[in-house]
Amino acid sequence: MNFVEVASTDDVPVGKTRYIEAKGTEIVLANVKGKIYAVSERCGHQNAPLSKGTLNENVITCPLHHAQFDVTTGKMISGMVELSLPGMDKLPKEFQDAMQAIGEMTSHIKTHDLQSFPVKVTGKRIFVMV
Ligand code: FES
Repeated sequence: MNFVEVASTDDVPVGKTRYIEAKGTEIVLANVKGKIYAVSERCGHQNAPLSKGTLNENVITCPLHHAQFDVTTGKMISGMVELSLPGMDKLPKEFQDAMQAIGEMTSHIKTHDLQSFPVKVTGKRIFVMV
């Protein structure tokens, strides 16, 4: 493993994320109050792309089932959340039953911490160890 240059600090404004790939590893960079962190791009639940989620300070929320992770450590903060879609009660009962069964199965899938990667910033150049 060694440090690989992956982006410029201009590419990751404060409060934003950016997807990068280094040596075939999918990573999301996150700028928390001016400091850059790097964690696995793939959610620890069902691999949804976290760069499509939202970042609130150090917490990134998965766009698919809303599990939350601390980007400064990769640790899971909270697991998935079952959502009910607006208008779901107006859909055919068979569809509602199928969605409920999928939701129940999904809720039994364990959510893992994210891999965290060391970051080095030199001037505007961001390096990640992969
Ligand atoms: S894929 Fe991220 S919470 Fe399910």
